[in-house]
Parts: sequence; structure tokens; C-alpha cells
Amino acid sequence: MLNKIYPNLIDIPQNLIIDKSIEQNTTLLNGKLVKLETDLQDVISPIAIKHGTELKSIRLGSHPLMNHQQAIEALNSTSSAFNGDTWKNKSSNYRIKCVKEFLDNFSKLKDSVVKMLIWENCKPLQEAENEFQRTIEYIEQSIEEYKKIESQTNIQNYSGFSGKILNTPIGIVISMGPSNYPIYESYSLCIPALLIGNTVLMKIPRYGSLLHNQIIELLQSSFPKGVINVIYGKNEDTINPIMQTGEIDMLAYMGSNMFVEPLILSHPKPYRIKKLLGLDAKNPAIVLKDCDLDYIVKEIVLGALAFNGQRCAAIKIIFAHSKIYDKLVEEIKNEIEKQIIGMPWTEDVRITPIFDKNRILYLKTLFEDAMNKGAINNTTDGGKINHTFFYPTLLSNVNSSMRIYTEEQFGPIVPIVRFDDIKEPLEYVQNSEFGQQISIFGNNSKEISKLASFLQYQCGRVNINTKCQRGPDIFPFTGKKSSGMGELSINSTLKEFIAHSVVAGKENDITLSTLERI
Ligand code: G3H
Repeated sequence: MLNKIYPNLIDIPQNLIIDKSIEQNTTLLNGKLVKLETDLQDVISPIAIKHGTELKSIRLGSHPLMNHQQAIEALNSTSSAFNGDTWKNKSSNYRIKCVKEFLDNFSKLKDSVVKMLIWENCKPLQEAENEFQRTIEYIEQSIEEYKKIESQTNIQNYSGFSGKILNTPIGIVISMGPSNYPIYESYSLCIPALLIGNTVLMKIPRYGSLLHNQIIELLQSSFPKGVINVIYGKNEDTINPIMQTGEIDMLAYMGSNMFVEPLILSHPKPYRIKKLLGLDAKNPAIVLKDCDLDYIVKEIVLGALAFNGQRCAAIKIIFAHSKIYDKLVEEIKNEIEKQIIGMPWTEDVRITPIFDKNRILYLKTLFEDAMNKGAINNTTDGGKINHTFFYPTLLSNVNSSMRIYTEEQFGPIVPIVRFDDIKEPLEYVQNSEFGQQISIFGNNSKEISKLASFLQYQCGRVNINTKCQRGPDIFPFTGKKSSGMGELSINSTLKEFIAHSVVAGKENDITLSTLERI
């Protein structure tokens, strides 16, 4: 019965029909698109199609599972390109020219990339288009920002010394974007790294791999040999052995803490890898007793359920003052029941299939654990699974004995906790392993500012009557404790990929004329 949610072939918009599978058996290796003699991984869409009373899975194609030897080949190529004179020694204008060429051609791939983002990751059409556009804007603005940074490299004279502070690259960078933003968060890491003169090993995310297929052709045609190499496959066969060589200088990674730890520990000298990390989060929303429920309910539900809650910056637990708790539960429930559940192309859809099958089982265990410990399921289909759907679930009566209280669900479960004393949510934040963001909902600016003054030391961003989010991309996106390391924004990402070097001497004619030549 619930399967009415899945489409018949005829229901799929004509422009989104998959007419041919993508059998990706090549990668970008040492400047060439090389056919790999290796195992291939089938890519199956989370979207199934109805055939009578049956659901039939859609095979989208396959991608390579690179092996140890191929991974080391990619490393050797990236390392030669860094040590040679093909990239870091070129002018910044040359590197900008390469990035612009890449970007011009990338912009033309919108339809095919968005289509695969829908089929592989089930991102709603509008959000998939936004992700693509945001990537373009991020790269465009990074180019402008890089020009500004370079223009500030002037001779400086202090206390009898003259010197030039130079923006040199860190070295060989591994860049790994996540499956929930496989385009935006992959290219907003690797392109700034390249602009600065680093060379990059780019690891393709586990889900959302085929959508890179045409993009890597552009990387091949836009950048010199070895400057960027592309890795497909399992970390244990590829990134771990690369790390074990000790040749990696920097890890730029967006994803789960669980996967990053073994990578870092594989490096023989883990202390010397620079890390730029966007990791797990358990962002709370605190709802104060005096707030305007009509306005905030929509914002909270959007914050918790956009893209099924599969955003690192999603609101993952709500603390509501007991004075408004029951009313808030009722209104959030009503708002959740209004959310459209369907295919990524369904108009105004909010809940789509979950791209990671294991996540669905994990959500079920969190749900059952909470229910066994006294949580109340408020939503009609809460806790139900239908093939790749997990129905949006509002759990009230949540307390600290439940796993959902501390574990990051990364899915459409919305837990809500009652508090009487503001100390309770503040202690939660202080004791939390994570510290990415928080949202405060209320009308009393004096009270909110007092809370924000405390919370600024706990989280990377305090949102006022607004959902947690990364954008606008000019703001630093960062996390404290286990939520991240380093800072992402158009300006700060570039700076993360820079290692300053200084050329300086006593202030005299020889020093000055030397510096003028650099
Ligand atoms: O998954 C990472 C972040 O959620 C990206 O930022 O979803 O606020 O745009 P955003």
C-alpha cells in the first residue's frame, strides 16, 4: 500500500529518465584518463520503480574499486607534479586560467550532474540545482579572493628588517568530499587547494560517484599532468596505503569521524599532517518560553528535515521550555505531517529515499531504543520503513538515557526534550562531544545575547531564530571539539591551503632589490 510512493516508469519526467548506464572504468591518473584493470562496484539507485506489485531496483552503472598499486601510482604522480615545476612555480594567473577553463566547462554540465545527484543521492531537484549553482559561485568567488590575497604580497619593513611574506602551498593534499554534498563539498575543497599551488589526490565519495564521470574529464583537460589525480574505491585499499607512505602533507576531509580517524592514524607521523576537517555534529535548537511559535515551527522543521536531515548542520535535537513544550510538539507534528514525501522530482518534496541503506537500519535501532525507554512517537508513520524511505518521526519525552539524545542520527528523526531550567540544555551543550552549531529561538534579545555569549565558546556558530546552516559561504564554517578542525569559507579555505614562507633580511639595498625580484 505504502508503495504508491514509488513511481511507475511513466511517472518519471522525460528529461530525468536514465536511458543508459554509466560504466565508469577509467580514472584520471598522471594526466590521462586511464582504463583500470580492477574490480567494479555496481551503483544502484535508492529510487526503485514499480513493476506491477513489485519494486524493481535501478542499476545506474558502476565505478572502479582501485587497488593498492593504482592508489600508489596516483600518489607518485601527484608527488612528482608537486616536486616538479608544473604547478607551484607557475604564476597565480596561470593557475587561475586553468581553474577558469575548468569552471567554464563545468557550468555546461548542469543538467547531467543534477540528474545523477537525483538518482544517486536522491537530493530534491531544487536542492540539487542549488548545490550545482553554489559550487560555481564558490569557485568564482574563490578566484576573486585569491587575487586579493596575492595582491597583498608586498615588501614590509619593520624594526630594521625588510621581508616578503609569501603564500606557498602546503604540499600534497588529499581532498575528500562527503556523500550528502558530493559536488559542492568536493570541489569547494580541491579547487582552492589547487589555486594556491598544492597538488591534489581527490577521493570520490562513496555515494554520488557517477556524477563525477564527466567532471574528471574536465579536470584532465584543464590542469597539467599529475596536478590532480582521482581515486575511486575503498579507503582501506586506497587512502590508507597512501597515508602509510608518509608523503601526504594535508588532509582536507568532510564526512564522518568514524572514517577519518583510521586515515590519520595510518600516517607514520600523524602530527605533521595539516588537517582541515568538517565532521559529525549534534546541533541543538533551544526554544525559549517566550517565542513566536507560528514563525519558528517551519524554521525548526526545515532545519531538522531538509534533505531528510542528511546535513551535518541539521538541527538534531530540540530542547523546549516546559511552558511551550506540549504546544510545540503538537505544532511540529502538524508541520511534519504536511511535509511532502516523494521522489526528488516531486514538487516541493522534503522527504526522499535515503541514499545509504545502512543508515535506514541505524535509524530503526535509534527509534526502537528510544521507544523502549519511554519516548512517544507523535507522527502517523513515525519509525516506519518503506524500502528506502524512513518516514519522518517526531519523538517527544526524550531523555538522556536514550541513544538519540547524544548520537547523530543524520536522518529524519526529530527528538524533542523538555526543560524547566535553561541550565539543562546549556549543560548538554557543554558536555557534548560535538560543537558545530546551535539555534536559539526566542523573542528576548537580552536573554538570547546572554546565551550567545556563553555558547560562542562551545559552538562554531550560534543562530538566532534561524536554523543551523553553513551559508552564506562568506561566514566561517567551523566546529569545536569533535565537529571539525580549521575553517571553511570562501576566504578562509584558501588560507588553510597556504603555508607562509618569509624571505627577509636587514633593511639595505641588496635585501630590497632581492625582494623586488621575488
Ligand atoms: O553537510 C554539511 C552542511 O550541512 C552543509 O551546509 O547544509 O547548511 O548548506 P548546509
